[in-house]
Amino acid sequence: MSVVELFGEDLVSPDVAAILPGGYILRSLRASDYSTGFLDCLRVLTTVGDISEAAFAERFDFFVRQQGTYYVLVIEDTATSRVVGTGALVVERKFIHNLGIVGHIEDIAVDKDQQGKKLGLRIIQALDFIAENVGCYKTILDCSEANEGFYVKCGFRRAGLEMAHYY
Ligand code: ACO
Repeated sequence: MSVVELFGEDLVSPDVAAILPGGYILRSLRASDYSTGFLDCLRVLTTVGDISEAAFAERFDFFVRQQGTYYVLVIEDTATSRVVGTGALVVERKFIHNLGIVGHIEDIAVDKDQQGKKLGLRIIQALDFIAENVGCYKTILDCSEANEGFYVKCGFRRAGLEMAHYY
């Protein structure tokens, strides 16, 4: 039987949970989130594709097996039981910096009709909490120029330049 939650409640920041607007909860991604709007929420960010329930479950189980590596958070609107915001922390273990651990913030998305309520900020703060608690010495992310202001408001600063090869 597959695990229900990707990660434990001990990594859900109580401080961030407490300052969410009423009617929202912060929690780990669940195996059951295939049918709660999680993928639709990600569609605000980019192309998601047509993912079957079996393929979703397989990817979820893969994340579970890579213990300590994938942390996908969601914000649920309790009035509708739908996921309205999400973000991920991917934890990379290095040899450099004395076996340093770096957090990568990925795939931040808030439903269009829920933007502007500080849910994005809360997701970042909650991912920061996980990063600190699993021992990351920094978190980094790539974003478009259009989103730079959002991340500056979240406490990030420009550091370097993204380059890419596409396959
Ligand atoms: N540029 C400048 N400031 C911004 C922007 C922006 N694009 N977006 C939000 N802000 C500001 C807000 O005005 C607010 O400022 P305030 O504290 O002075 O009021 C602050 O940032 C926090 O805003 P939130 O309300 O928390 O933002 P929201 O919940 O709307 O989420 C997000 C922002 C995640 C960028 C959302 O607009 C979204 O989902 N966009 C589409 C998907 C996307 O681009 N995701 C980021 C991809 S990059 C990555 O994943 C690493």
